[in-house]
Amino acid sequence: MRVLFVCLGNICRSPSAEGVTRAMAQTVGLTLDSAGTAGWHVGNPPYAPMQEAALKRGYDLSPLRARQFTAADFDSFDLIIAMDATNLSDINGLRPIGNDTPVRVFTDYAPETGADHVPDPYYTRDFDGCLDLIETCATALIRDLA
Ligand code: 4NP
Repeated sequence: MRVLFVCLGNICRSPSAEGVTRAMAQTVGLTLDSAGTAGWHVGNPPYAPMQEAALKRGYDLSPLRARQFTAADFDSFDLIIAMDATNLSDINGLRPIGNDTPVRVFTDYAPETGADHVPDPYYTRDFDGCLDLIETCATALIRDLA
């Protein structure tokens, strides 16, 4: 199962979702990647405050590099997971004709949280709250895919 996490910049939420899910899913056999709908940070590592908060919980995001989401990703992945409704609509705007790869919002896997998106810590500065929500959603995703 190939799963792609997508946010706006690919330096906060989606690399964290990738790193957390990878750490939690070691035995499930998932191929994971992340990308941004925007190209502003292409080639950059995750945002330093995000890396710092993740590393405190044991998630090393330092090897990851930002890339931009492309239409080819619809063929390369079995499931695409957006962090918010804007990501979802930007992703679906690039869908090739005839492609039916599912695209979901990460929080849909964890309705008990009451969250309808993963708030962007680049703006909220709540990196720990972001990781709390991502951990909950990743746990639910892995259970769903198992
Ligand atoms: P992300 O957060 O989408 O979770 O990676 C952002 C990072 C950078 C910017 C926006 C969102 N930016 O405007 O540079």
